[in-house]
Amino acid sequence: NKRHTVLIDVDTFNSQRKILTQKGRDLWHSDFVKMPCSQATHQKSRWDVISKKLKSLASKKTASVKDVEEAIIKYNPKYKDQWSFDALHTLDKNTHDTENYYKTLFPKIAALALKLPSFVNKAIPLLRKGQSAAITMSQVQISCLLANAFFCTFPHRNTSSPNAEYSGYPSINFNSLFGNLSRRKIEKLRAIMHYFKEVTDESTRPKGLVTFERECLSYTDMPTWESCKANLSKLHITSEGQIELEGKGMLQVDFANSLIGGGVLGSGLLQEEILFVINPELIVARLFTEKLEDNECLIITGSQQFSSYSGFGDSFEWAGPYEDQSERDEWARRKTKILAIDAMNFRHSVDQYRMRHITRELNKAYCGFKGYDGHENPDIATGKWGCGAFNGDPQLKALIQLMAAAKAKRGLAFFTFGDENLKQRLQRIYDLMFAEGITVGTLYKLLRDFSPAKHCDSHVDLFDFIEKNRNSKSHL
Ligand code: APR
Repeated sequence: NKRHTVLIDVDTFNSQRKILTQKGRDLWHSDFVKMPCSQATHQKSRWDVISKKLKSLASKKTASVKDVEEAIIKYNPKYKDQWSFDALHTLDKNTHDTENYYKTLFPKIAALALKLPSFVNKAIPLLRKGQSAAITMSQVQISCLLANAFFCTFPHRNTSSPNAEYSGYPSINFNSLFGNLSRRKIEKLRAIMHYFKEVTDESTRPKGLVTFERECLSYTDMPTWESCKANLSKLHITSEGQIELEGKGMLQVDFANSLIGGGVLGSGLLQEEILFVINPELIVARLFTEKLEDNECLIITGSQQFSSYSGFGDSFEWAGPYEDQSERDEWARRKTKILAIDAMNFRHSVDQYRMRHITRELNKAYCGFKGYDGHENPDIATGKWGCGAFNGDPQLKALIQLMAAAKAKRGLAFFTFGDENLKQRLQRIYDLMFAEGITVGTLYKLLRDFSPAKHCDSHVDLFDFIEKNRNSKSHL
């Protein structure tokens, strides 16, 4: 009975499918995204100021970064001395005239942002914690919402104080991307500007739909891991390649933050932020997705990859346009499926071996892997989830994901991201366990025994421990 809101209007998306189209209402209400173009009285005058500024930008052939800055500050005057635009200025200055399309692009982004009242004329429900719900919108609508994020038009979204209305939501206005100059910011901006170039050009404008689904695993659906009789499912391990490239067609795991997208609008550039920068449509999830709880995940179907990249973190570089060839489904969505699950962030590494935490991670992974109605449920492409910024043990996280996939009856492709040692050791322990028919429940009990051993001696290695002790548990 999951609520599924479809934001498409037949006028804007000429589909032969039976898509529910309700004429939208402008709901200035705590269950919906508060829109900059809302008719709520005090917002109306704000949109008047915004649209006046954007119209003046949109009417120009070229606009400078200074013009963009002035427009944004005009309707966000409180932040005049707080927001900096140095990264955007530097991007513009450092780009050779022959390649600098930004000055002609700014007016086009402004024109796209101005379309908001007509493009998104149905209220966008918030995907709140504790409720499974989905939203489908067109890629054009997403581009319009992101154009508004670029021009920082979303109301009530500029403060992160704990009592603020949207304090449980990620940020959405792009101001944090424009300031605090760093090499990372410049590379990110190159990717984001490329996205806007594509979506504002009639010939490359994307024409599909994207669905965002928040799934909440109820307590009754949580497996009793200790007595789980499932056998391990198939596992493919490789040290080469990346989830988002070699995992095409599979359910691709986003090593997420509970605030979806993590530091994508700041200086973060790890797996999740890179994914969001090369698939900028994912960023719109930040507009309506409340912080994920321990038993929740977000599944995004249909987003498009616009950019190629190389490197990771400080070495990340935008590597030019990417031609996404993914097929589309009967809803005109690209078949790409991204699963955002946030691992726990372990300040003290030893904490992760506590059963409470292991069970949390098992349920989190299972919530994403379990498979849902209306999905094809392909194999899962993942890797060292929670093992970088979040300090997890790759051996433990590999087993946890293997157990969750076994319970969900889905195969796993595990990308060790260049870690040859992990590849070999995981292959060996998997082969042993698979040959002996070790069940998820047995593995769970082995993990329970490992926990005190690890607390006594932090050098104990999980795979060695399992190899030595597996027979003591396998009969249970
Ligand atoms: N494909 C496969 N493996 C990858 C890829 C990729 N494209 N990118 C990175 N990895 C491997 C690297 O070995 C990395 O150290 O996954 C490891 C973990 O990646 P992190 O991004 O550090 O993931 P995590 O520890 O879960 O940290 C999550 O970082 O990006 C932010 O918003 C995110 O706050 C969250 C935190």
